[in-house]
Amino acid sequence: MAAAAETLKCEDLKPIEDDWTIVIRKRTNQKRKFPKLKPSKQQEQQTQWAPTDIETTPEKELKLMHKIQISIEKLEKSQFFTAFLDQIRTPEASQHFENITESKRKLKMVIYGIGSIESYESPRLQLSLAILMKKNLEWIGDMEVFDPIISLTESKVMEELGVRVLSVNEQGKREVVDPILFFMPHCEVELYDNLLKTNWKHELLNKIILLGNSFDKYEQQHRLVSKNQDLDDSRKHLLAIKRFTKEFEIRTISDDFFRAFHGSSWHFFSVDYDIDL
Ligand SMILES: C[S@@+](CC[C@H](N)C(=O)[O-])C[C@H]1O[C@@H](n2cnc3c(N)ncnc32)[C@H](O)[C@@H]1O
Repeated sequence: MAAAAETLKCEDLKPIEDDWTIVIRKRTNQKRKFPKLKPSKQQEQQTQWAPTDIETTPEKELKLMHKIQISIEKLEKSQFFTAFLDQIRTPEASQHFENITESKRKLKMVIYGIGSIESYESPRLQLSLAILMKKNLEWIGDMEVFDPIISLTESKVMEELGVRVLSVNEQGKREVVDPILFFMPHCEVELYDNLLKTNWKHELLNKIILLGNSFDKYEQQHRLVSKNQDLDDSRKHLLAIKRFTKEFEIRTISDDFFRAFHGSSWHFFSVDYDIDL
């Protein structure tokens, strides 16, 4: 069990009665292969990147653009999206957003680990959510995206939609000079940990808004199954920041959006200046 739980993967986890359990495979026979973040020093380094799948045609790009537009329309009309915006605007949540956004007119949104928008609906819905957030929330500025599996077709379509594709694999290690909203849908735990480790100072952590896998769930999983030092090392910043984290869970509302957004939460960090991290 501990080995199977080594990383929280989007496809391998499913909440049962508000708890997380490891499942073998669910809801589909499609096999999804994701590059895994490896822990070796060399692979943790930030490297120049370009798509490996470079076959594209105007027809392919048009077809993908059409798919994304359908996905944006579906999401925009959904109860899920209404509830998503309502949650951001509740007095408690909006206070947290305002604390970070007031110092800067527009926040950059950095999206890591979007997956293949050409092959799967979840990544398309996740990209659609990012685009609709920008449309509906005036404090969101430029958008950047990175996933090592992005193809040239996907890259061109995202650029056309106003989302800049990064040419460096940052391994999640972006330093937060100005406040940033990180959208990391169902990323592996090492990527969240890299982000936290890079910004391991109160003044940097406090400038992060993170929409991604629930840290609560990681902590619950840690209490239940972790006896493994490697496993603990891969998430040690995440577990350490937990007590300074305010989390708001996203409600998926309907089955249509379960796969794309289950187990996701907003996270805000509030670390006092006198805390010795
Ligand atoms: C579990 S999948 C989630 C994919 C998609 N968001 C979803 O929910 O179906 C994790 C994704 O992280 C990507 N990934 C791996 N290393 C990454 C890195 N250094 N930066 C950004 N994304 C990365 C993988 O390629 C993969 O697409």
